[in-house]
Amino acid sequence: MNADALRGKFVVLGVTGSIAVYKVIELARRMTQAGATVQVIMTPGATQFVQPLTFQALTYRPVEVEMFGTFDERAAGHVAMGQQADVVVIAPATAHTIARLAHGFADDLIGTTVLAAHAPLVIAPAMETHMWANPATQANVEALRDRGATIVEPESGELASGLMGQGRLASLEAIGTAIEDALATSTALAGKRVIVTAGPTLEPIDPVRVVTNRSSGKMGYAIAVAAQRAGAEVTLVTGPTALCAPVGVTLVPIESAAELREAVLAALPGAAAVVMAAAIADYRPAKAAEHKLKKREQADEVSLALVKNPDVLQAVVAKRDPRTLVVGFKAETGDAVAEASRMLREKSLDLVVANDVTAKGSEFGSDTDQVTFVSADGAEALPLMSKRDVARRLVAKMAERLAS
Ligand SMILES: Cc1cc2nc3c(=O)[nH]c(=O)nc-3n(C[C@H](O)[C@H](O)[C@H](O)COP(=O)(O)O)c2cc1C
Repeated sequence: MNADALRGKFVVLGVTGSIAVYKVIELARRMTQAGATVQVIMTPGATQFVQPLTFQALTYRPVEVEMFGTFDERAAGHVAMGQQADVVVIAPATAHTIARLAHGFADDLIGTTVLAAHAPLVIAPAMETHMWANPATQANVEALRDRGATIVEPESGELASGLMGQGRLASLEAIGTAIEDALATSTALAGKRVIVTAGPTLEPIDPVRVVTNRSSGKMGYAIAVAAQRAGAEVTLVTGPTALCAPVGVTLVPIESAAELREAVLAALPGAAAVVMAAAIADYRPAKAAEHKLKKREQADEVSLALVKNPDVLQAVVAKRDPRTLVVGFKAETGDAVAEASRMLREKSLDLVVANDVTAKGSEFGSDTDQVTFVSADGAEALPLMSKRDVARRLVAKMAERLAS
């Protein structure tokens, strides 16, 4: 493993009761050899497969197993390892531990450590293929991913059970790369405050009906996570979504465009960057009815008068400190790059992320996106990639701009 990435780092390695435990012994050894302090925590289940002594002899540190064990509780040992960690790695991660982490259980040392940690979380699942494919496991994995954990997907192939399918622990190289990435991105935005907007807005027609859009919030949430991972203090101003709140991010829930505007402007003083990824309604019903509008049996058609919402981006640009970086998003159903270039000029933005929402893989709600970064330097088209990768690329670009 890359000694530059690991030297001097405190890695907590949570080892759980999977048959793949034996493979992770080598991971602990490689990280120790690369100069990291590797603190192994094993679940009692994991000790059924391998003795703690094996890890202890290779990491030169006592292995912790029992919550109510012998380590120093005067120093709050059940949470101290999490607070000290530069990265927390769970490998192999069983379906059981993934479920516990997804629900925030604190009934063992891995649970308390993960809950107390501010560090990035890398999870490498390993299990029988039907356990992996089960909707319960998939929902738990997705919840952890939404909150910012890196999931190193298990590989397909022959499993210990003799079955073929996905579930085999990822290669040590893939897990190692994920750990190095998690460690590498943790300071690019250190000391900076970043505001991210995400999701749709809801504009009331009456107390039960709204005008809204199909934004899932996935891109904004991924940017908030990537910025937080890069060391930023993040305020996420979000319309209603089905996503879990990312850990370590200040969440400001809003509904209407007016509420979003107010929340962003309140957070603006001192912010290093504002990323406007929310899909803000351009228009709202002229008047929100006080009582539910009745169905008119005789009317086959009804019309709704809409009025223009205030332009939030314009207000942000007008009120920002000139050093504050402002990033806009342009989702279009045609030539998104031309529209983004126009937006960049007319609204005096630093960067616009353009995407054509009719392109395959870039539809509203999808987990992938094919975007182009448009700035005064020109247009940089990225290939189709996960929204999380787009977010990481965007954060790296922002860090570059802020540093220069
Ligand atoms: C031989 C054997 C192999 C197992 N391998 C796995 C595995 O690869 N993945 C998994 O999720 N569970 C596996 N299990 C089941 C877990 O050990 C069990 O769910 C346990 O409660 C996990 O607890 P822990 O996550 O606290 O370690 C295995 C069980 C046995 C008996």
